[in-house]
Amino acid sequence: MIKIVFVCLGNICRSPMAESIFTHLVNERNLSRYFTIDSAATSNWETGNPIYPGTIKVLKKHNILIKETYSRQLNNTDLSAHYIITMDQNNYTNVIKFVRDETIEVNKLLYYLNSDNDIADPWYTQDFDTTYAEIYAGCTALLEYLIKKNELI
Ligand code: 4NP
Repeated sequence: MIKIVFVCLGNICRSPMAESIFTHLVNERNLSRYFTIDSAATSNWETGNPIYPGTIKVLKKHNILIKETYSRQLNNTDLSAHYIITMDQNNYTNVIKFVRDETIEVNKLLYYLNSDNDIADPWYTQDFDTTYAEIYAGCTALLEYLIKKNELI
């Protein structure tokens, strides 16, 4: 099993969006048996809160099945992950401080598109369409990378 945890600041907008989109792409390729997919927050600001309505709305618009999740902070159980994928530089810096185990691959999502860009936080931008497009593209590239690296197909 390849364990992936998507991480953002609040775990109510970007990382649950990435979790649902990546799960959708994995299912589409019939590869769910290879993956454990989860998400978490760097902060505890939204702990216990459901996915933000803007994220739910844009996922529904694109017919992506929504995994019902509640915000939780990254914790020691996440240290069994193989990949921790962050949405922006701030999350990345915080995760790197927390994860001292070099066997976990930690990258920003858009790294897999050869970009150093962040996924802008829609909590502030309110532009969920741009967030969706960027996360969809990043997740597609991440899955391609993992398929090749682990020779899944
Ligand atoms: P997320 O967005 O990191 O994409 O889940 C945020 C959600 C909540 C807050 C900030 C960002 N907040 O300040 O509570």
